[in-house]
Amino acid sequence: MSTQNTAPAAEATQSSPVRRVQQHRTYLMCRPEHFTVSYTINPWMEPANPTDTDRAVQQWQTLYDTYLALGHDVHLIDPIEGLPDMVYTANGGFIIDGVAYGAKFRFQERVPEGPAFMEWFGGNGFDVVDPVQVNEGEGDFLLVGETILAGTGFRSTGDSHRELGEVFGKEVVSLNLVDPRFYHLDTAISVLDPVEGPDGVDRANIAYLPGAFDEEGRRILAERYPDAIRVSDEDGAVFGLNSSSDGLNVLISPRAKGFEAQLRERGYNPILIDLSELLLGGGGIKCCTLELRGASQ
Ligand code: ARG
Repeated sequence: MSTQNTAPAAEATQSSPVRRVQQHRTYLMCRPEHFTVSYTINPWMEPANPTDTDRAVQQWQTLYDTYLALGHDVHLIDPIEGLPDMVYTANGGFIIDGVAYGAKFRFQERVPEGPAFMEWFGGNGFDVVDPVQVNEGEGDFLLVGETILAGTGFRSTGDSHRELGEVFGKEVVSLNLVDPRFYHLDTAISVLDPVEGPDGVDRANIAYLPGAFDEEGRRILAERYPDAIRVSDEDGAVFGLNSSSDGLNVLISPRAKGFEAQLRERGYNPILIDLSELLLGGGGIKCCTLELRGASQ
């Protein structure tokens, strides 16, 4: 594949930060009223370690309040008892232009979440596509400009990437995840600017953790996103990349110090949100956030 980045448009140099513009977002979240760690489906989860549900709710509330304070819309889906991972709404589906491609979870423990989320989408004005293939929604699928980056290796299958391309008619770029700690794509890539710039200048940009990908994945990412922020292993290991950006404000873990500095250098406004309790389940800021693109209300 040949690189298309030969145009003299490298506007995002570290020495002259571009002016970042906030975009409005609509999100779906789920209050972690039933949060606990009672099974292990990723290396972060240890049922023997106690969890504090009240603390999880408090930390989650800070994230929710921050989105509202920034002017975003946040919808809520009711938590269901016995589905402790439902707080990680990013896995509930993938939505573009009012079309919701539902999730089909890999592990039995989360399978009932798929229909629960689809029911919510259907009841809230979205066109729901019931998936045939195993996929974990926006945990593994990230919209960057007109392209969908899709992760596989641990959860969503390669076949789901094909199905995703058919549903949305967009280019889907498959990336292999190789480190079990970074089992969803949104633990290894953060979409900083999802929108293409004017005049063919590709301003869509990401941050990523190179070590989470195989060699081919690293090659693809380097070629497509030469201006990407590459995050250190240290920041990756504290889920620094599991963050959410509105084009200006980037909500990140307070422990990702290096990433915080990199964001500032590029003209973003990092906002620190501590979700340490939810990290016990292997999730962070982005996992608790599902973008509803094209919501009617
Ligand atoms: N315990 C959940 C699981 O393993 C955490 C999901 C995190 N979500 C995410 N989008 N990375 O499935």
